[in-house]
Amino acid sequence: MRLIVTEDYDSLSRVGANFVAEIIAANPAATVVPAMGDTPMRIYAELAARRQRRELDTLQIRVFQLDEYAGIDTEDPRLLYGWLLRSFVAPLGIPESNVVRLRGDVEDVQAACRDYESAAHEAGGFDLAILGLGPNGHLGFNEPPSEPDAPTRVVELTDESLESNARYWGGKDRVPRTAVTAGMDLLLASKQILLVVSGEHKSEILRRTINGPATPEVPASLLQHAANVTVIADRASWPFSTAGTQDSDSWAGK
Ligand code: F6R
Repeated sequence: MRLIVTEDYDSLSRVGANFVAEIIAANPAATVVPAMGDTPMRIYAELAARRQRRELDTLQIRVFQLDEYAGIDTEDPRLLYGWLLRSFVAPLGIPESNVVRLRGDVEDVQAACRDYESAAHEAGGFDLAILGLGPNGHLGFNEPPSEPDAPTRVVELTDESLESNARYWGGKDRVPRTAVTAGMDLLLASKQILLVVSGEHKSEILRRTINGPATPEVPASLLQHAANVTVIADRASWPFSTAGTQDSDSWAGK
């Protein structure tokens, strides 16, 4: 695991954008799985700004949706797919035909999960997973406990996830209780994994992610055994007294 601590959320977003931009520059048709949630939003805005300035070519990126609520209507404004289009796909000018959707709004959600897994394997897996850290250690909606080989599937959201998602939708009661998520199998096999963490409230779960036992009870702790994991955390979320900053990396200092 490469650990980078930044001064604040602004610098986390800048360093995160540098990291992602470097991967896209090297592989313009990269397969990317971008998390929704608050933490990566400014990274996406920064990437969009770079695209506007013609510093980055994002048109060929292939996007796999990370997770989705289940059992809600196709027109429901809470669909994470809508958020994905608004925050990542449209601002980066990626054609919607380049997006592999994970569907929770269809009758046969299990079949949709299987189709998604097949599409991911056909694509050769994910080049880059951009992940946020759930308050209970979830990755995507891989809720605890999630085994390292857990496939793309339907999950019941835990109370903690319902609480934390309440802020997106104006109350816990407004959060759908079931979801679909890209499996741990696919996420842990990504060629590069970026985990972004911000805020003091994430400090204890970040400590367990990095330093606790690697256990399905804290799905993010399984990243300890994955290849090419980079954690970018702002100082508020960093649980240790010594910083793991590696500002000397070419992209980290920019
Ligand atoms: C959202 C997702 C979640 C979030 C996590 C952190 O697509 O997959 O796992 O990444 O709950 O959310 P924030 O960044 O809002 O703290």
